[in-house]
Amino acid sequence: NNRLSIAIDGPAAAGKSTVAKIVAEGLEYVYIDTGAMYRALTYKSIMKGADLHSESEVLEILNDTNIQLLPGKSGQIVLLDGQDVSADIRTAQVTNSVSYAAVHPGVRMEMVRRQQQLAANGGVVMDGRDIGTHVLPNAEVKVFLLASVEERAQRRHSENIEKGYPSNLEKLKEEIALRDKIDSEREIAPLKKAQDAVEIDTTSLSIQQVVDRIMKLALERI
Ligand code: C5P
Repeated sequence: NNRLSIAIDGPAAAGKSTVAKIVAEGLEYVYIDTGAMYRALTYKSIMKGADLHSESEVLEILNDTNIQLLPGKSGQIVLLDGQDVSADIRTAQVTNSVSYAAVHPGVRMEMVRRQQQLAANGGVVMDGRDIGTHVLPNAEVKVFLLASVEERAQRRHSENIEKGYPSNLEKLKEEIALRDKIDSEREIAPLKKAQDAVEIDTTSLSIQQVVDRIMKLALERI
């Protein structure tokens, strides 16, 4: 039984983590949310008053930071230096500044090193922006999830309303579009579909339909 590496990339709020989690559970694989690692670093940098645009300041913090991803009952738990920051890394402040911390080449190099270590034994589903292109270029299954900005903003908006959070659809659209722009235009490892990735447009698909397609790709290779 071949323990695969499955790479799931795509723009912000395309539903990557939702489907990645379900696929990982189905295959009894480890789920690794690389965005959570960049978010944890961003959160700590903000708390320390660092300048996110300064590579040396952010990198110095990263080199002194332990980030652990653990499976929890209601989703993944993120431990930053041993402290649970799962909720703190999802605030609008972190969401809207994480892309600035993620542009730095030295920061990315160290993150990729840690991510490759986590995936060294296979049996992983990893989601992010550069998994198929840089982190796991030899992954047996590569998926690139797409959906229109309108659709992604609408999904996030409904999610916020459901959770009782304040939410502004137009603002969400702008924030998602800006994050995609920064992630796609950076020099190092920009958001980009790997040549050998299977593109899935989720705009008119249910979560289950997306999961089924990825499971099928995986089962063909096990
Ligand atoms: O996936 P999520 O939206 O939580 O990612 C947050 C941010 O982290 C992205 O907008 C991007 O700037 C950065 N990121 C990255 N490379 C990854 C995963 C996330 O640059 N592999």
